[in-house]
Amino acid sequence: YPPERVRNFSIIAHVDHGKSTLADRLLELTGTIQKGHGQPQYLDKLQVERERGITVKAQTATMFYRHTTASLDSDAPRYLLNLIDTPGHVDFSYEVSRSLAACQGALLVVDAAQGVQAQTIANFYLAFESNLSIIPVINKIDQPTADPDNVKDQLKRLFDIDPSEALLTSAKTGKGLEQVLPAVIERIPFPRGKCDSPVRMLLLDSYYDEYKGVICHVAVVDGALRKGDKIASASTGRAYEVLDVGIMHPELTPTGVLYTGQVGYVISGMRSTKEARIGDTLHQAKSTVEPLPGFKPAKHMVFSGLYPADGSDFEALSHAIEKLTCNDASVSVTKETSNALGMGFRCGFLGLLHMDVFHQRLEQEYGAQVISTIPTVPYIFEYGDGSKIQVENPAALASNPGKRVVACWEPTVIATIIIPSEYVGPVIMLCSERRGEQLEYTFIDAQRALLKYRLPLKEIIVDFYNELKGITSGYATFDYEDSEYQQSDLVKMDILLNGQPVDAMATIVHNQKAQRVGRELVEKLKKFIERQMFEITIQAAIGSKVIARETLSAMRKNVLAKCYGGDITRKKKLLEKQKEGKKRMKRVGSVDIPQEAFHELLKVS
Ligand code: GTP
Repeated sequence: YPPERVRNFSIIAHVDHGKSTLADRLLELTGTIQKGHGQPQYLDKLQVERERGITVKAQTATMFYRHTTASLDSDAPRYLLNLIDTPGHVDFSYEVSRSLAACQGALLVVDAAQGVQAQTIANFYLAFESNLSIIPVINKIDQPTADPDNVKDQLKRLFDIDPSEALLTSAKTGKGLEQVLPAVIERIPFPRGKCDSPVRMLLLDSYYDEYKGVICHVAVVDGALRKGDKIASASTGRAYEVLDVGIMHPELTPTGVLYTGQVGYVISGMRSTKEARIGDTLHQAKSTVEPLPGFKPAKHMVFSGLYPADGSDFEALSHAIEKLTCNDASVSVTKETSNALGMGFRCGFLGLLHMDVFHQRLEQEYGAQVISTIPTVPYIFEYGDGSKIQVENPAALASNPGKRVVACWEPTVIATIIIPSEYVGPVIMLCSERRGEQLEYTFIDAQRALLKYRLPLKEIIVDFYNELKGITSGYATFDYEDSEYQQSDLVKMDILLNGQPVDAMATIVHNQKAQRVGRELVEKLKKFIERQMFEITIQAAIGSKVIARETLSAMRKNVLAKCYGGDITRKKKLLEKQKEGKKRMKRVGSVDIPQEAFHELLKVS
């Protein structure tokens, strides 16, 4: 397939507007997957993705299509189409831009009833900034509340898209789908590369397969890649031999060669995905090539400590994290030690959903039991001597470091919220409670308003989205992009059990909110810590000042009470049993804290 017969495109959409369903239909239409066979939503591969109905990791598939619109004869030219799936959720916009780098065009899918939503806007701009040809697809026209004309107006108003360009489809009934691939071929330019140059390709993604080793997804920009070729990485200089090369059709299908403009996979004996840095340029060994512009490196916005639920499982957790990060290079991992939880890891994530998904995969795929600490964002603190530190773990910010903190900064985001206009009032209230600053308030049609706010990142990582959904009966959509740091009045809050600070529960809060957050944390803990043989005081403190306090009175629990003296083996058994019960606890000083207490603390903002 010469480049003129290749099209690389992506489908972008707000969550649930039907992107994966449309992708499945296109794969069926081209015979790439069997209709009604296999799993629905072929491209959503991970278990978490199926459960949550979201796409986390972008997948790519190649299809072959005979373009018969121009000529009906059976010699009509065949095209090779690479569909590059992208995640819809805000946390993964990094993956979206990564996928878009290999495309020349995108289908912008919009639900005919819901219209343009927050992520439609974010995704449109990502594609627009990458200079992609955009084909608007108004999907779900079978719904009774579909209003395609209104959506056309919105597209015109927001993105200056000519209404005549929009395709109307129903991925459910199949209506209108026959127009999609002809539009891809006619409206999206073919990839332009130098066919005769030494091979140069962009590394789009990599993952580890137990049998095959590291599999890299690549987009060949110049030249051709053949089995047996020697290639090298522009970033590490290391050389490899191409052991296998082919396309995703949608399973790995060896072809022996990939030509200019094609997207496919390469297996080259890399030992770990750490050698396959996403965004790297791979090129013909011993040739000097200009590296391709890489991707934006993953930016870690949310940090949390991950600890084994049972102290002895550190090795198991360590192994599970290592395996999982092999396939999710966007997580950063460093070892840390907590006096409360022992040895664990500080992990950086792209966002809260990313963190949840990682957590869930650790438990589901690797059977690791994990306790995570209150998520935090990367704050910057400046000391009196002018030195600045980035704080990813509140516990690391000693209460009295011998240095005086003179200023603090926190990361902010620009949030876009789209809501039916009757909810504007409550949403404005929520945003100002969360310390937001209004930047824009407009209407995108007769019923829908668009609000833009600058919000501290910390304020949206904890429960913001749920609350927003709650006060708008589920109608609000929300997206955000990172913005600059802003100076802020921040303090470190410690939680003390019987006077001992629990480092894993330390958190950084805004001074004005400290009182309320302290109260809530202490109350939550009181509910979840079981009464023990002695009295327990639970305190929240800023520096040496206690701002909230609760007391749990003592209880005497005697497991031997039911043993009528005598039987020593029975006694032993009971004692063993009590020990078992304790395993699920974390002992901090002399206090046992159940895992749920840690989970509950995550919900306090
Ligand atoms: P993410 O992967 O989370 O970004 O979602 P998505 O955009 O891929 O949406 P998905 O394809 O999972 O579709 C969401 C829901 O809409 C599913 O329940 C689909 O069955 C349904 N759906 C998709 N297309 C249509 C359509 O044309 N008409 C109707 N009525 N429902 C549709």
